[in-house]
Amino acid sequence: MQPTPELTLCAIPGDGIGQEVIPLSVEALKAVLPELKVTYAEAGWGTFVERGDALPHETLQAAKETRAVLFGATSSPSHRVEGYKSPIVSLRKLLDTFANLRPARRRLLPGNGLDLLVVRENTEGAYSRREREEGDVAIAERIITRRGSERVARVAFQLAAAENRRLTIVHKANVRPVSDGLWRESCLSVAKEFPQVPVDEVLVDAAAYHMVRDPSHFQLLLAPNLYGDILSDLASALADGLGMAPSLSLGTEYALAEPVHGSAPDIAGKGIANPIAAVLSGAMLARHWWQCPDAADRIESAVDTVLMAGLRTPDIAQPNEPTVSTNEITEALLEILAKTML
Ligand code: NAI
Ligand code: MG
Repeated sequence: MQPTPELTLCAIPGDGIGQEVIPLSVEALKAVLPELKVTYAEAGWGTFVERGDALPHETLQAAKETRAVLFGATSSPSHRVEGYKSPIVSLRKLLDTFANLRPARRRLLPGNGLDLLVVRENTEGAYSRREREEGDVAIAERIITRRGSERVARVAFQLAAAENRRLTIVHKANVRPVSDGLWRESCLSVAKEFPQVPVDEVLVDAAAYHMVRDPSHFQLLLAPNLYGDILSDLASALADGLGMAPSLSLGTEYALAEPVHGSAPDIAGKGIANPIAAVLSGAMLARHWWQCPDAADRIESAVDTVLMAGLRTPDIAQPNEPTVSTNEITEALLEILAKTML
């Protein structure tokens, strides 16, 4: 058991709506954890244009010192730019946050029964960045290691045990018996340490089918990198969409919370971004990293109260429904948090 980390946070708003939603998420965290110490740091495209470095040294230092990061989003160009590397991809790697947690539950329109946690391996698999061309043949290496598989499986089983979830191992070992076979075998060997957790397995294509047919079918999916990336996007579409989808990446030394969405240049600066994905990402840090479940519960129930009161930013409003701004929905949220102060 790791000791509970100190209540310190490095907030990195980044670009676009990251600048709008991250400070609000920090305010919500401070409302429930008044002793939280927050440092702000820079990263992203704007930082690159200004300073020639998308992830300055002092930002990485601040992240390492506080050990917990709340990251907004960065605007990465779709073409190659000399010297530019996506800072979030670098951060995930440098902090070795190997377990990516993406919960998906419908808060807005209840009824589809979805209450799923996707735990995705975040450092290897199809994203090992080993690709080459041999004439007209392109080859990508997909690296699966026993260590990499077991360490993410252990996080997933701990969560399944804590949250009473059935754990389903996702793979395609019928077609890739060596690589997916090692993944499956490693996960099953960790399962032996958690006899209280019900376990089953599913082929990745069947997983997509079941999720759409019956969103309540799975409770926790443990998946290698690429499968987890795709299935967690599917899950957030079955939930409330990007403006509401949080995530947390956990390692042994560091934690990195980030809303799933990007910098949303189409709405940046208009004051209409939905802050809930960022706010719920902060709550995940409170729950899983600082081990403050009460603080996390308070934030989550304040979000539900605000939604129940009918407050909607444009991204989650039905046609013809009145909408509110980023600041209005946040003020309502902070008011509720202030009222529920113990
Ligand atoms: P995006 O997530 O930024 O936006 C997709 C659509 O969803 C847009 O119409 C946007 O307005 C809407 N949306 C997203 N978050 C919202 C929120 N909180 N409230 C209301 N509406 C919201 O994805 P897109 O457009 O593909 O990428 C834009 C930029 O973001 C690109 O430069 C991309 O590289 C970057 N990006 C960065 C990520 C990160 O830093 N982790 C993740 C995804 C994209
Ligand atoms: Mg993705």
